[in-house]
Amino acid sequence: MESYILDWLNLLLRWAHVVTAIAWIGSSFYFVFLDSSLTPPEDEDLKKQGVSGELWAVHGGGFYHPVKFAVKPPQLPKHLHWFYWESYSTWLTGFALFTVSYLWSAGTYLIDKSKMDWVPWQAVTVAILFLVVFWLLYDLICRLYGQRKSGDAIVGALVMVLVCVASWLACHWFAGRAAFLLVGAMLATSMSANVAHWIIPGQRKMVAAIQAGAPVDPIHGIRGKQRSVHNTYFTLPVLFAMLSGHYSFTYTHPQNWLVLIAMMFAGAAVRQFFVMRHGYKLGRNGNPWPYAGVGVAVIGVIMLWLAPEPVEPMPAASADAVNTSVGGAIAYATLQPILAQRCYLCHGAQVQMKNVRLDSAANVKLHAQNIYQQVVVSKLMPMTNTTGISEAERMVIKQWFETGAKVD
Ligand code: HEC
Repeated sequence: MESYILDWLNLLLRWAHVVTAIAWIGSSFYFVFLDSSLTPPEDEDLKKQGVSGELWAVHGGGFYHPVKFAVKPPQLPKHLHWFYWESYSTWLTGFALFTVSYLWSAGTYLIDKSKMDWVPWQAVTVAILFLVVFWLLYDLICRLYGQRKSGDAIVGALVMVLVCVASWLACHWFAGRAAFLLVGAMLATSMSANVAHWIIPGQRKMVAAIQAGAPVDPIHGIRGKQRSVHNTYFTLPVLFAMLSGHYSFTYTHPQNWLVLIAMMFAGAAVRQFFVMRHGYKLGRNGNPWPYAGVGVAVIGVIMLWLAPEPVEPMPAASADAVNTSVGGAIAYATLQPILAQRCYLCHGAQVQMKNVRLDSAANVKLHAQNIYQQVVVSKLMPMTNTTGISEAERMVIKQWFETGAKVD
C-alpha cells in the first residue's frame, strides 16, 4: 500500500512539476528573447516617455507591442504583473518529488553501498546540504566578483569549477541516477533562490522608490539581470540532469561524473547559441553558430564514447535448451545466466531499478510474475533492450514461468 500511495504522489507531483516548470522556463525564455529582440522605439511619443526598446509580435490571432522603459516608467500602473510563482511552485513541487522518489526511499534510490556505505539519514542530510552549500558558494562568488570589471568572466569560470566539483562529489557519493538528479536539483534550487533573494527583492526596491518619487538605483536592475542571465544558462543543463534518469547508459557509466559535466556543458553552449541568435538577427551579436557547433560536437563525442561493446552472442547451450526441453520444466540453472547477462546491469548488486533486484533465486521467485509480464508479455524489459536479449531467450523465460517458475 505504501508503494502504491508513493506511486500516486510521484505521478501527481511529477505532473505538477512539469507543468510549473514549463510555465517558469517558458516565461523566462520569452523575456530573454524579448530583451535581446528589442529595437529602439520609432514613435516620438514613446521616446519622450523614456522607452528604450520595443517589439512587435503577432501571436494567437492578435498583434502585441511590448515596450521596455530604460529605468522606470513615467508612472506605475494599477496592476503590475510579477513573475515569481512559476519559479516557487516549480521548486516546491520539485523538492516534494525529490523527497518522495529519493529521500523517502534513500536506502534504495539514493545510496549505492559500493560508493558510500552510509545509513539513510546521513545520505539524506548530505543530499540536502548539496542544495544549500552550492547556493551559498555560488551566491558568494556573485557577491565577490559580480560587480567587478570583467566580473562576468570570473563568475562564469568559478561557477563552472564549482559545478564540476559538485558533480564529481555527487557521482562518487550517491547512486548514479540520484547523483545526476541531485546536481540538477542543486542548480535549480539556486535558480529559484536567485528569484527569491535577488531578482524579486531588487524589483520591490525599484517599485518602492518609484512610489516614493525617489530616484531608482540602477544597481537593482543590473543585479537582477545578472542573476536572470545565470538562470538562463542553467536551464538546459538542469533539464538534462532531470531527464537523464530515464537513460541508464548515462548515469551507469564508470565515469558518469564526466558524462554529466560534458552533457551540461553542451546544454549551456546550446543555450548560448539561442541567446545570441536573437540579437544576431538584428545585427547586434557575433555569429552564434560556433556555440551550437561546440554543443553538438560534445554530444557526438559522448555518444561515441558511451557506445556499448557489441554483445556476445548467447552460448549455444542455453539457446538449445529451448528446443531440447520442450514440454519439460526449465531449471533455474538455465534461466540464471540469461538474467545475469540481460538484467543484472540494472537489477543487480549495483543498481536496482524500481527496487527490483534479480541476482538471487529468492528474489527471482518473488518477482516471477512481474518478470514474465515485463519480458514476455509487454516486452518492456530489458529497458529499451539495452542488453540485447534474443527472442530465444525470451522464450526460455516464457517457458520457465509457464512450467512452474522453479528456482531450485
Ligand atoms: C538498462 C536497464 C535495465 C535493464 C537491462 C533491465 N531493466 Fe528492468 N527496469 C529498468 C527500469 C529503469 C525500470 C523502471 C521502469 C519504470 O519506472 O517504469 C525497470 C523495472 C523493472 C521491473 C518492474 C516493473 C514494474 O513497473 O513493476 C521488472 C520486473 C524488471 N524491470 C525486470 C527486468 C528483467 C527481468 C530484466 C532482464 C531481462 C530487466 N528488467 C532488465 C531498467 C532495466
